[in-house]
Amino acid sequence: MVTKTLEICSDTEQQLFFHNYSRMPIDIEYGKGSFLYTSDGARYLDMIAGIGVNAIGYGDERLLRAISDQAAKYIHASNLFMQRPQFELAEKLIELSGMSKVFFCNSGTEAIEAAIKLSRRWASLSGNAEKREVLSLSNCFHGRTYGAMTLTAKPKYVEGYEPLLPGTGMIEFNDIEDLERKVSGKTAAVFLEFIQGEGGIHRVSEAFAKRLGELAAEHGFLIVADDIQAGCGRTGTFFSYEQFDIRPDVVCLAKPVGGGLPLGAVIGGEKVAEVFTPGSHGTTFGGNPVACAAGSALIEVIHADGLMQKAVETGSMMRKAFEEMAGRHSQILEVRQYGLMIGITVSREAKYYVEEALKRGVLVNATSVNVIRLLPPLSLSEEEAQLCIDTLDEIFSEEKP
Ligand SMILES: Cc1ncc(COP(=O)(O)O)c(C=O)c1O
Repeated sequence: MVTKTLEICSDTEQQLFFHNYSRMPIDIEYGKGSFLYTSDGARYLDMIAGIGVNAIGYGDERLLRAISDQAAKYIHASNLFMQRPQFELAEKLIELSGMSKVFFCNSGTEAIEAAIKLSRRWASLSGNAEKREVLSLSNCFHGRTYGAMTLTAKPKYVEGYEPLLPGTGMIEFNDIEDLERKVSGKTAAVFLEFIQGEGGIHRVSEAFAKRLGELAAEHGFLIVADDIQAGCGRTGTFFSYEQFDIRPDVVCLAKPVGGGLPLGAVIGGEKVAEVFTPGSHGTTFGGNPVACAAGSALIEVIHADGLMQKAVETGSMMRKAFEEMAGRHSQILEVRQYGLMIGITVSREAKYYVEEALKRGVLVNATSVNVIRLLPPLSLSEEEAQLCIDTLDEIFSEEKP
């Protein structure tokens, strides 16, 4: 085989990979704190954090130690065995949620897939053969595998992949009348992000959440919280649903829960505790011990460093700055902020701001076409937040509408 220098650039990217990503043209070398550094020495303030994964930034010594200690012991053994790192993380998640059982997988979409299976099997065990329907909310995002993609049902994500999973349906976001119309005794579960991420940072209303809880009790269906993006402290509480007067039966976590390593978790309450039996669901890699050790370290750091409170404070400071900016820049239509989950609706494609911020050394993300999305590390300092604010202010100021 001929060895040649491999150029990391858009041309080789086009040659090597399926074309399902639009990658930014920068070659990441390493990260430290809230910054990423490229192979040519450039520095970028990372307000994306691996799409909401790197909750404590890059290079935290406590996280690195947990990973290297476990990797030195063993990296994989499978779920045929008892594994201490899984037990330790499961115990933490049960304590935090007040729920009963945990299933570990590798990603968000796998957690949703497991929760769909858990819901349908729970409904089967209830003896009502008609109780199969799994519903979700419009504008949501739950993942890319067939079940999760069907629940997502944004045309862009499903086009060409039909037929989708049968027995699903969609309720209009925050529309109580539509909720009342759609749920029935045939409903096995309603899946929802209490704060929608990919959809542009939108929060379920208190009234909608309350009515959902009442209808779940009336018709006997499960409420499944997708806290994959909004969970693990990002919005100020460990689970985003804690900010509502409602308790889900099942919660899905992923993204930050493995400290940057691939990990997903389904946490279930008493109602569903006995649904899975040996062989009824499983995975080879799920609950990888290194990822679980990293997850435990992450949760300890979040608490030790007061990062949930810090997310609330930094997020609120940023919202005030963006709202003030909205008074000066007519391109800003709306600012939505829940902890360090921030969406800025703008009057043109948000892609423009992503590209301009990149030129100025700040990484931001666009979602829902015209929303600038910020999902920085919860450890973001006030100075770093200010750098992001000043950079966006400069872009808005220099832009010719
Ligand atoms: C709310 C939500 N659910 C599910 C997923 C899917 O997670 P993954 O990409 O790990 O499969 C995502 C990913 O962005 C998400 O934001």
